[in-house]
Amino acid sequence: MAADHEFGNLSTDLKLSLVEGYLSSFTQALQSKFPELWYIDAFAGTGERTVKIAGSAATDMLPAIEERIERRRGSARIALDVSPKFSRYIFMDKKKRHCVALNELAKEYPGRAIEIVRGDANAAIQAELAAQRWVGKRAVMFLDPYGMDVAWSTLEAIRKTEAIDVWYLVSLAGLFRQATHDPKNLTADKRAALTRMLGTDEWEDAWYKREQNTDMLGQVDETYQRIADVSAMEQFVGKRLAGLFPKVLPPRRLRNDRGVPIFSLFLAISNPEPKAIGLATRIGNHILKASVEQASRHKPGR
Ligand SMILES: C[S@@+](CC[C@H](N)C(=O)[O-])C[C@H]1O[C@@H](n2cnc3c(N)ncnc32)[C@H](O)[C@@H]1O
Repeated sequence: MAADHEFGNLSTDLKLSLVEGYLSSFTQALQSKFPELWYIDAFAGTGERTVKIAGSAATDMLPAIEERIERRRGSARIALDVSPKFSRYIFMDKKKRHCVALNELAKEYPGRAIEIVRGDANAAIQAELAAQRWVGKRAVMFLDPYGMDVAWSTLEAIRKTEAIDVWYLVSLAGLFRQATHDPKNLTADKRAALTRMLGTDEWEDAWYKREQNTDMLGQVDETYQRIADVSAMEQFVGKRLAGLFPKVLPPRRLRNDRGVPIFSLFLAISNPEPKAIGLATRIGNHILKASVEQASRHKPGR
């Protein structure tokens, strides 16, 4: 199918269920308090995703199972299905094919205020936010890139609104790949990508260490290499976000099928009012905690 959009694993289901849980609690809690509640999906995809479910060969006991393709809801459709409804939806994607699919999706929800913006998320968010007055509005934004696409200046623009709660999927794999173990391989492009995403070049001092060792013959050997692991990188991102937003919740790590941490899902709240922080924190923590408890119930051996 033209709009097929294949991505994800079990962590994708978890990520989307966390965001869905937040969206429905958000509209329930705020619909009577604010005339306008917006949902902004800056990496919206198509509204659907296709998931390949692997088959298996026959055994003595069991017949073979064929590989099959399942269609599941993506974030845009999930947001449209949330009840109570948002008063406005903004879906952004840089791919034309995805925007065509989003337009088709919008037709299934007549009467809704749905705007589809084709373009780079950073430029589109910054233009959209600058054009709005945020008084009397609250919004949830979902930043769900494949990699390190979100520029720090975009997060600054979100923070300035004091009206948006943002779920931000941070690519730990992207950070790990760009911040090469051997700094000799840190090209200007890699450095620039890291600095653009993190809004500072301080990552280099924090993640790399120069050490001098003198051997028994008095020869000095100097090494300079990355000392930061994935956890240190995740913490660095958390600190950067906490320096910008009034409140950032402890993130939920997402792993690939082999258990390797690939992403970290952060919730950052831009509204500095204690009431707004309190509500968003209660909802966010409840959802994040429930997901950890659910995961531990499903651990093998329990
Ligand atoms: C992981 S997918 C999003 C999936 C979506 N949230 C869902 O649940 O269905 C990332 C999407 O971002 C789009 N994309 C990638 N880079 C982008 C950019 N710089 N600006 C806007 N969209 C981008 C891709 O075309 C893709 O549809």
